[in-house]
Amino acid sequence: MADVMNIQGHVRLGSSAGQPLTRRDGILKVTGGATYAADNRPEGLLHAVTATASIARGRVTHLDVAAAEAHPGVVKVYIPANVPALALSPDNKIHPFVWRMEALQDDSVRYAGQPIALVLAETLEAATEGARLLAPQYDARTPHVTLDDAEPFNTETTAFGRPADHASGDIDLARAQAVRQVTTEVETAAQFHNALEPHAITAQWDGDRLVIDSPNQALGLSRQTFAAFLGIAPEDVLLRSPFLGGGFGSKAILYGAQLLAILAARDLGRPVKLALRRDQMYGPVGHRATTRQSLRLDLDDGGNIAAIQHDTVTLTSTFDHFLEGASNASHSVYAAQALRTTHRGRRADIGTPGPMRAPGEAPGSAALEIAMDVAAYAAGLDPLEFRLRNYTDTDPSSGMAFSSKALRECYAQAAEAFGWADRPREPRMMRQGRLLKGWGMGTAQFPCPMFQAAAHATLRADGSAVVETSAADMGQGAWTVLAQIAADGLGIDIDKVEFRSGHSDLPDAGVAGGSGHTATAGTALFNAGADAVRQLADLATNDPASPLFGAGNSGVTARNGRLHRNDDDRSEAYEDILARAGLDLIKGVGAGAREGEPTRAMFSHGAVFAEVLVDPDLGQIRVSRLIGAFAAGRIINPRLARSQLLGGMVWGIGFALHEEALHDARTGRFTNNDLAGYHIPVNADAPMMEAVTVHEDDAFVNALGIKGVGELGVTGTVGAIGNAVWHATGVRPHRFPIHPESLI
Ligand code: MOS
Repeated sequence: MADVMNIQGHVRLGSSAGQPLTRRDGILKVTGGATYAADNRPEGLLHAVTATASIARGRVTHLDVAAAEAHPGVVKVYIPANVPALALSPDNKIHPFVWRMEALQDDSVRYAGQPIALVLAETLEAATEGARLLAPQYDARTPHVTLDDAEPFNTETTAFGRPADHASGDIDLARAQAVRQVTTEVETAAQFHNALEPHAITAQWDGDRLVIDSPNQALGLSRQTFAAFLGIAPEDVLLRSPFLGGGFGSKAILYGAQLLAILAARDLGRPVKLALRRDQMYGPVGHRATTRQSLRLDLDDGGNIAAIQHDTVTLTSTFDHFLEGASNASHSVYAAQALRTTHRGRRADIGTPGPMRAPGEAPGSAALEIAMDVAAYAAGLDPLEFRLRNYTDTDPSSGMAFSSKALRECYAQAAEAFGWADRPREPRMMRQGRLLKGWGMGTAQFPCPMFQAAAHATLRADGSAVVETSAADMGQGAWTVLAQIAADGLGIDIDKVEFRSGHSDLPDAGVAGGSGHTATAGTALFNAGADAVRQLADLATNDPASPLFGAGNSGVTARNGRLHRNDDDRSEAYEDILARAGLDLIKGVGAGAREGEPTRAMFSHGAVFAEVLVDPDLGQIRVSRLIGAFAAGRIINPRLARSQLLGGMVWGIGFALHEEALHDARTGRFTNNDLAGYHIPVNADAPMMEAVTVHEDDAFVNALGIKGVGELGVTGTVGAIGNAVWHATGVRPHRFPIHPESLI
């Protein structure tokens, strides 16, 4: 039920929140009724294909444009010499989430797979053949694509928005009290998002008005970015993104290829569609960066951590500044008197990396949890006991208390469900048939950012409502979860809510990223609904003909489409209040954002326990069980939250055992830029898995008490699997993904 008064402090939600509803978009998706960007076929459509560089460093010296344009159906070839200019310099970062815009500005090649031309044709086949006929020639230089041969990076920058270095506490003093020092090195491979749906765009101009269909996690920001680089007003851009076939961070950012398609559409006066092929998404549209991480933990004789030092070296491109924030993962998980973390970049001839599901935290927590396991063993403690000994109720990096932290319950519930108490301390003690069996654990943690969102909620004369915000459903369930919150803000049944989202003419819902979309857009929607109900209550409580007359807004509660007096059982239906007032509708507006400087440390938490079976002869690793318990504030939809957590855990399996982009060191080209060579987990890799959520009230994180679940499940899982591999084999993994040959 919605309190009619403003939602200051902790609010109650009504009957929709907490329901395990199935996805409202599910039927559309399984019946093909959901249209994705590349499904759009406007009249007069031209197809665009990018030609990409087969070298990783150097210059393009010749493109056979004449041959390509002579091919039947080819309409035009754009190369740096004739591409329409952007209205802004490509270096102009209008927002921290906007990368250097690569749109054929010059003939240099900075990574393999870089777009070097755009071919427009009447058919996809003609455009593809036109791109082939360009037969590029190059002045090629020796590329550098590995951490060892990459150039040190000296530009002042941040680790994805946070300071590159952090120090808190007196590390010398802390170390002086320590009796034991544990050091660990962990490398993590480059990974690609590999959303099922490619980066696609259909662009059409109607005079100065631009309509774009493109999967997008941040409609308001993207509209603003497109407009700025095109030199038009944001209001003249309509960006439609009703469905995304996965985003994972790579669709929160805008890339040059998308702008090229728009420029071509304007130049040629026809709609243009561009859909990158799988191999074309390896390079120009972001990836999770390679990291090399060193951890040093100093322990006192009681097994308490005195100091944590976490240093990350990570690869970035030669032309932008993104640094993967892996060391940030050590800031707030465990008690430590002193912390030192650093990030250093090296430049390589690769595409610019970017955020990918649990950016920073995923590789960082993988390394931290390995180090914790090494330290527990060195201290003679069970890994869970060691983590409990170093449990903290304040964030050591900021000194702030946590807004809420039900991690103890997570440890207890997951350990119980897993049967952790029976774990032998030493490795190589368990077998299943001829296979070695091992158990490992890891702590999951992810921050709870909020962005800025706006929403409208309009109550209609028949008691139904329409709610509007430009939310992005990238498969996480925003259509469903946000509608549940909106229904409760309005105090009506979810079946009476028409939820409009997915295009940029709606109020801006902010970024679907950082696991903050439900909290941010949900708050805006709830506030919009509450605003409409407040206006309705004004009408009723001031109207002598209403049974609510004289109750005052604080004396009524909205539920089931009626306003109820709190002091007796009288109530009145919304329809009746509106009818008597002679109104067709009441419109509420709401915003969602975090106000002021935070006074608490805000994180979701969890504990993941893994069992692996390892073939002692072949080194083949199978995850046989994975059990996680998570605390993430108020869970709006337990079914979808579980699905998100399980999905994150499956990503953890991919991270730990499968996923890596491989370069040929001589050419700098990828050798596995397809789904045959880049192994994402399939059903056979996803074992018996369970994710439970632990009850958690949070009165600080936001008024609705919502944290986030999208990225949390990745974080504990990688380390848990790595630690289970050690427990099975006695071999410590120092690199993810763990290769079988490293175990034999
Ligand atoms: Mo994400 S990597 O917050 O979409």
